[in-house]
Amino acid sequence: MTYGKDPYKFFFEMREKYGNVFVFVLLGRRVTVALGTQGNNMVMGGKLSQVNAEEAYTNLTTPVFGEGVVYDVPNHVLMEQKRFVKIGLTTESFRAYVGMIEEEVELFLCTDSAFAAYKASGVDMWGSFDAYHAMSQLTILTASRTLQGNEVRGQMTKTFPQMYEDLDGGFTPLNLIAPNIPLPKNIRRNKAQKAITEFYMNILRTRRERPSEDTEYDMIAALKDQHYKDGRPVSDREIAHMMIALLMAGQHTSSAALSWCLLHIAHRQDVQDALYQEQVEHFPDSDGSLRSPTYEELKGLPILDSIIRETLRLHPPSHIIMRKVVSDLPVPCSLGNAPENRTFVIPKGNYVWAAPCVTQIDPSIWRKPMEWEPSRWTETGSLAAQLYRDYAETGEKVDYGFGMISKGTDSPYQPFGSGRHRCIGEQFAYVQLETILAMLVRKLEMKIDHVPPHNYHTLIISPQEPRSIRFRRRQ
Ligand code: HEM
Repeated sequence: MTYGKDPYKFFFEMREKYGNVFVFVLLGRRVTVALGTQGNNMVMGGKLSQVNAEEAYTNLTTPVFGEGVVYDVPNHVLMEQKRFVKIGLTTESFRAYVGMIEEEVELFLCTDSAFAAYKASGVDMWGSFDAYHAMSQLTILTASRTLQGNEVRGQMTKTFPQMYEDLDGGFTPLNLIAPNIPLPKNIRRNKAQKAITEFYMNILRTRRERPSEDTEYDMIAALKDQHYKDGRPVSDREIAHMMIALLMAGQHTSSAALSWCLLHIAHRQDVQDALYQEQVEHFPDSDGSLRSPTYEELKGLPILDSIIRETLRLHPPSHIIMRKVVSDLPVPCSLGNAPENRTFVIPKGNYVWAAPCVTQIDPSIWRKPMEWEPSRWTETGSLAAQLYRDYAETGEKVDYGFGMISKGTDSPYQPFGSGRHRCIGEQFAYVQLETILAMLVRKLEMKIDHVPPHNYHTLIISPQEPRSIRFRRRQ
């Protein structure tokens, strides 16, 4: 109960009492929490023979994504599937995505009823929008336009949203433990899963039977051409299930991150002004307006970038990383505070959690850790910048089967996880977040009196209601 009410408070209080490693029972499961950078390393850098993600997550994910993908397959198959997806996430595609996202933002502001004050151009009128609700919509619209293909985007104002909502209803904490209770929610989830799978399989069939020159090289096209190492092609059903997995993996994470970014910049006028000025300086057009940015240009903007990094530090969408212990797991002495000459062992069958959300606000690492202060990432010689470089660029590199990546398992800052399960959507999420934020700050002035607290009742930590941002069209 205490964990469910406020996981941060719970973790810090338990650490104060027992040190970095402690056990608690959650809905009948014995969970060992391993905090600190060593805890991060033990869980994210753990050997496959000792810790396992599939068994920790499959109850939740397989009924939603479908069989044969992600956590319904052995780890080596997941690594191959991640390799296939990465083939569809190239710099070339990111370049094309920036323009598509830009168009989607403009279309959304001109058509969504919450933004009537934006449409009333030339009139100095204030309106308001629910940050999480609006950003969820922008996230799914932009992800479908870019990653999911024209056919899915075409259905976004029709049948898809209801199917998506029903499927999403399957993501509840209870389903981690008991996914098949015949509750109305689960029945709707199963029905939607079948319908969306069929929808993607139809797209594949149509593309095969009636190839069109207009079909873009999107994620579906990239997956269609892939083969496993044993020569087996990826089946249509697997492609459909991978597409669902990608949609779901990026939806709540990116929309939560986006809404926290907006809530903070609406609250901190100085940061909002600096962000806007950054756009004005970099993208002036000859007629006095702002021209479209390129992917490379957006990537290099320090203020925009630091706002996202700082938001993911304070509000990482996934606050815990879970694994099942599949063989007895000794805890390193320096982590576990075991009495002399003894070692703590986490027994097989228990669960082990890391909580990078704790190292991301640990006062022994970060200056004023609870303050949202993007400038910590841009100060010369700053620790934050060094930590980020190690996590994303300069640290040890490893290939787990889906290309060379930074290992990052002992980093105190790891919003996208690390090791073999590191997020493959990281670069895409940055393109999406950067483009949406840049476009919104160009078009809107935003205000809010307080940044709302965390809502811990959802799997992904979102902002609590009320979370309305007041806005007017930027003059
Ligand atoms: C701000 C946005 C995002 C955040 C903060 C985020 C965070 C994470 C984290 C922490 C993990 C590691 C989970 C673990 O180790 O147990 C992860 C895994 C994953 N993410 Fe993301 N993610 C984001 C966006 C996306 C997007 C847009 C996609 C797809 C396009 C995506 C696809 C995945 C997949 C497929 C995995 C599973 C990898 C595995 O278990 O090997 N994510 N993400």
